[in-house]
Amino acid sequence: MGRVLVTGAAGFIGSHTVEALIRKGAEVCGVDNLRTGHLSNLEEVGSSPQFRFEEADILDGGKLESIAKSFRPDAIVHLAALVSVQESMDDPDLNFRLNVEGSHRIGVLAKELSVRQIVFASSAATYGDTSDLPVVEETAKNSISPYGAAKYASEAIFQGYGRSYGFGACCFRYFNVYGPRQDPKSPYSGVISIFADRYRAGQSVTVFGDGGQTRDFIFVEDIADNNAATALKETPVTGSFNVCTGRPSTLLDIIRVFESHFPGAPRPVFQAARTGDIVHSYGTPAQIQMALGFEARFSIEEGLARLIGSLKE
Ligand code: UD1
Repeated sequence: MGRVLVTGAAGFIGSHTVEALIRKGAEVCGVDNLRTGHLSNLEEVGSSPQFRFEEADILDGGKLESIAKSFRPDAIVHLAALVSVQESMDDPDLNFRLNVEGSHRIGVLAKELSVRQIVFASSAATYGDTSDLPVVEETAKNSISPYGAAKYASEAIFQGYGRSYGFGACCFRYFNVYGPRQDPKSPYSGVISIFADRYRAGQSVTVFGDGGQTRDFIFVEDIADNNAATALKETPVTGSFNVCTGRPSTLLDIIRVFESHFPGAPRPVFQAARTGDIVHSYGTPAQIQMALGFEARFSIEEGLARLIGSLKE
């Protein structure tokens, strides 16, 4: 079975990806600098003989190289990043270092170690605000944040380096990912993480706008399974793919599901729409389905039920 290095392993998507890899029988080395990740996210896999954890920063080339050389991965899943769009607006230098220079370093590491495959966490933020729906991979890349720009630049870095040095580079443009362990702390955290936190605490949620806005919400286990399956494929794959369900939900749909799990919860409070907010966003997963056989397994009702179950545990 494969040996996979996962950067950002202690993060939201990273920790689920580690679990998916272990379920599939892989040997996993997880690295994380714990800037936004938490060791507690790795509690479930901590005792697995298939898993080791190393605290390291992707920009600390020497340390990362020595970890990777002793582990000898066949594939790298690169999820370490500055993950907040808002933080990238406030600190574009840090965004550049983590989300562009970091990609360059991981690309060079892949060359040095002759890995077979890189899996990279890109984002639907590469498209920016588009009224051309559903979003397909060819839709214009009009990023409206340093974050989206860096993700798109990194796709070019990974695919160009992959062709130069002979590894596969799969860049996954995640849509709105949700699920257990997503951090609800900032007002710019994913809406579902914020809603979950508030319903659990018996507090009312705030809806910006009329709640009719749509997003293509995808459950984190679908994201993780796809990362793991791609990292473990025998034949390298290169390309950029939407990772989405193709089924948009409105915020009112989401609230309805929460209310069915939390009867008697306070009613939502409506406020003016946020400036710059996108009204509708959803993608089509046709290309990833063709290339990798991916299909989201979790409907929004099932994903939210899992998330809410994890809150009540
Ligand atoms: C994503 C980014 C956001 C960025 C935007 C534009 C994340 C988590 N968010 O937002 O930082 O500015 O792309 O590229 O990566 N909402 C509420 N109540 C809340 C929180 C949010 O009604 O408490 C609304 C928002 O106004 C929005 C919708 O929920 O209409 C979804 O919000 P969010 O989860 O932040 O996703 P994006 O809008 O896609």
